[in-house]
Amino acid sequence: MHITHLSLTNFRNYGRLELALPQGPILLYGNNAQGKTNLLEAIYYLATTRSPHADNDAQLINWDAAQSEEPVVVGRLVANIATAQQTHQLEMRLIQEQKPTIARNRNFSFRRQALLDRRKVRLMDLLGAMRVVLFLPEDIQLLTGSPANRRRYMDITLCQIDPVYCRTLSNYNKVLEQRNAVLRQIAEEQTGRDVLPIFTEKLITLGSTVFLRRAKFLADLSRETQRIHYETLTEGRESIRLVYLPRLHVKRSKISPGSDPKPTELGDWLETHQGQSEIVTDRFAKLLQESLSTDIARGATTIGPHRDDWSFQLNGRSLGSFGSRGQQRTAILALKMGEINWMTNLTGERPILLLDEVVAELDEQRRTALLSSITETTQAILTATDPGMFTDTFLQQATRMEVENGRVNVM
Ligand SMILES: Nc1ncnc2c1ncn2[C@@H]1O[C@H](COP(=O)(O)OP(=O)(O)OP(=O)(O)O)[C@@H](O)[C@H]1O
Ligand SMILES: [Mg+2]
Repeated sequence: MHITHLSLTNFRNYGRLELALPQGPILLYGNNAQGKTNLLEAIYYLATTRSPHADNDAQLINWDAAQSEEPVVVGRLVANIATAQQTHQLEMRLIQEQKPTIARNRNFSFRRQALLDRRKVRLMDLLGAMRVVLFLPEDIQLLTGSPANRRRYMDITLCQIDPVYCRTLSNYNKVLEQRNAVLRQIAEEQTGRDVLPIFTEKLITLGSTVFLRRAKFLADLSRETQRIHYETLTEGRESIRLVYLPRLHVKRSKISPGSDPKPTELGDWLETHQGQSEIVTDRFAKLLQESLSTDIARGATTIGPHRDDWSFQLNGRSLGSFGSRGQQRTAILALKMGEINWMTNLTGERPILLLDEVVAELDEQRRTALLSSITETTQAILTATDPGMFTDTFLQQATRMEVENGRVNVM
């Protein structure tokens, strides 16, 4: 699939942008702080309803527009896309809520409105219409950062493909909040334990689906990543795995002493029970029961997919803790290339690639591997301050666009 046209209004340093985009590789180049990353962010935001950089939507709105005397400031992002069979239009509006009377021009909040083919839809319904793979230099944090980073990656990636997962996860998070509120009320003796089972049962059903779908996702993605890493990037020298670490265990559990799978084996355990969700719900239920007094004391549910993690492993060791910087970079590159194949296998269509300044960080061999996979995709948008780092062959194939202070000039 590819974007045929992108239109931005009041988004970051783009006051107004109308841009036709061709198929094939597109190289966005220009000096620092001109709007290259902002353009990729806009596309990613439309595809996933999340920003990789901003903490809140207000940051996305053009500063000048936000300061203006307009009664209501609206940010607008529109992408027209074409797949092999059809075309779609995705739109996101960021509409300023009533201006605050005190502290004018500060702390505005924005309401989001999503449109698919000009019809209002839930934000969630936008997901999957335009599929992207984003590759940023800071993706190395998937190895070295917190579990929250890794869960976020898993959720955003899987939500682009699996609407059931996305809905289930959103419901799970709501029920989790409700259950935690009840746990706190029990601790403060404001309510009895009899209300808890309603929430616990819902949590178990929803949570088990999340566990199972994540296990399948990571197993499939691991196969693709491992193959690329082994065959293309390390010439058969190293073999990595993505290992799912679901929070479906407690220390010294009484469930089945002796035969209980180790935390690192739980992903495989879930894989072998794909069609038997009752075995998973049963385990989850027992563990919640075992940790009930801890959970009441803490006022929070300590077992469940909201505490999941996953890791890259090389010969049974975590690459995040033990890998060299170069090994870590190679693993991330393999993951991203694996993600492209994983999406293509599932949808029959290649996702749009968004690569922000990553080519500069790669050595010759890895750069060649990445660029050759790019030339196979339908559309890839790359940014660079210096087009000189690309090979002549690549530059001949790519459409070059210069980004200058919120404007894009096609060369
Ligand atoms: N809400 C906003 N309104 C207006 N300008 C903004 C807003 N948010 C960020 N900017 C500005 O947009 C400019 C371009 O940022 P961007 O990150 O896209 O640059 P870039 O071309 O990727 O540069 P680099 O090569 O340094 O990565 C920056 O100067 C930034 O301060
Ligand atoms: Mg940038």
